[in-house]
Amino acid sequence: MFLIVDDDVAIRTSLQLLLKQAGYPTKAVATPAEALATVRATPPRLVLMDMNFSLDTSGHDGLALLAQVKQLAPQVPVILITGWGSIALAVEGMKAGAAEFVTKPWHNEALLQTIRTVLAVGETVPETDAADAPARQRRHLDQQFEFRDIIGHDPQLLQVLRSVGQVAATDASVLIEGDSGTGKELVAEAIHRNSQRRKQPFVKVNLGGISASLFESEMFGHRRGAFTDAKTDRVGRFELANGGTIFLDEIGELELASQVKLLRVLQDRTYEVLGDSKPRRLDIRVISATNRNLAEMVAQGRFREDLFYRINLISVRLPALRERPADIPLLTQHFLNQLRATYHRPALKVSTRALHWLREQPLPGNIRELKNLVERAVLVSGKEELGPEDFQANAQRLPARAVAPGELPTPGTMTLDELEAQVIRQALSHYDGNISRVAKALGLSRGALYRRLEKHSIPFEEAG
Ligand SMILES: Nc1ncnc2c1ncn2[C@@H]1O[C@H](COP(=O)(O)OP(=O)(O)OP(=O)(O)O)[C@@H](O)[C@H]1O
Ligand SMILES: [Mg+2]
Repeated sequence: MFLIVDDDVAIRTSLQLLLKQAGYPTKAVATPAEALATVRATPPRLVLMDMNFSLDTSGHDGLALLAQVKQLAPQVPVILITGWGSIALAVEGMKAGAAEFVTKPWHNEALLQTIRTVLAVGETVPETDAADAPARQRRHLDQQFEFRDIIGHDPQLLQVLRSVGQVAATDASVLIEGDSGTGKELVAEAIHRNSQRRKQPFVKVNLGGISASLFESEMFGHRRGAFTDAKTDRVGRFELANGGTIFLDEIGELELASQVKLLRVLQDRTYEVLGDSKPRRLDIRVISATNRNLAEMVAQGRFREDLFYRINLISVRLPALRERPADIPLLTQHFLNQLRATYHRPALKVSTRALHWLREQPLPGNIRELKNLVERAVLVSGKEELGPEDFQANAQRLPARAVAPGELPTPGTMTLDELEAQVIRQALSHYDGNISRVAKALGLSRGALYRRLEKHSIPFEEAG
């Protein structure tokens, strides 16, 4: 039996009718309490539920119901029904374990297709086959979306890809957060590629490289003579991206003066080219990325709150590579495949021992660092089968090559960032992970220390 939960009788009836015609037995209830009673008595094959109940438009009741259903009957797939304005809520729901979501008003055939897919996934992923499940879930995702260049099947990554796939089709603005080298740009491209705008331009702008004084001319363009240095017309980035997607990379670096200007464009969806006061309409999908903690920057007054909400309808957080170590061997093999082709060395391979060793490394530069490491090992060792020693010798950024305490590195062997990371690691180990003492010893506030721990992806446990 399929359980339908919606407080709107019209929706209940039309869903019941649709499902009955498709040959599915149903039961429809109006309140979360009735829904839970039903799940307890006879677990349904599938739950189709609304996220908003009459007096509650926050979605709180919907999320609470979802959590309770998942607790009572974890194996029962739940499909959420949400209004158009609440995609963010639907994504919350997906994170809380919903299988899919559909938006109101739905398309009957599309809804039935979603139901068939959800049921099929349930059948092909038996609970007992846990080890194989991630690979299967990944295959299932690949049938729905185009994620070919994003390697991995760690559950955290799959969760990201599921959210990304779901929101790609909408025009919702997406904020991608994650440490350096975790694949933010790759994900931004994937959103565009899986959207209706895929045939339109995808324009990447590194906001970190644009000073406040040049912001308008870069982003909106200018007419010849608009200011002293404007010798020719210039087409702005917004115009280049019009109709498609603009990728605002490093948005955390944007100066406050530019933040205001960006906000205005995103609100009004119009802009003016410098030297030409005719407002132009903008039809654009916005994806932003940062390796900073924007919420914290908002709290500190360094990032505008209104802009934060504007760009952050949906947020996606990419896990650091050390949080998904099972993907390290997969990624290594992937990069090796690429190098085989690039360097015409078909016999190249990597030993199992080397894969184990790589899994143990901190890799603070994440996937980019792993990629560089593999490439260096291939080029420097010249061997066809790479062992741990081939990676170790080239792992400049790993602690194996770090300087001894009390010694300064030879110029050129370490960046200031790496040195900072090492000093922090040493202090952490010296003070047994006691954050307060480490902060004091390094002359930092606890907040500043946390930011650096995050920046360098240094794992820590709050010990004091
Ligand atoms: N899941 C993945 N599968 C395969 N390659 C990946 C994956 N994630 C990242 N990469 C590769 O790692 C490198 C870094 O990825 P990307 O540029 O997207 O990271 P980023 O998060 O934007 O980093 P930064 O913050 O430094 O700009 C790229 O070469 C990218 O192709
Ligand atoms: Mg990037």
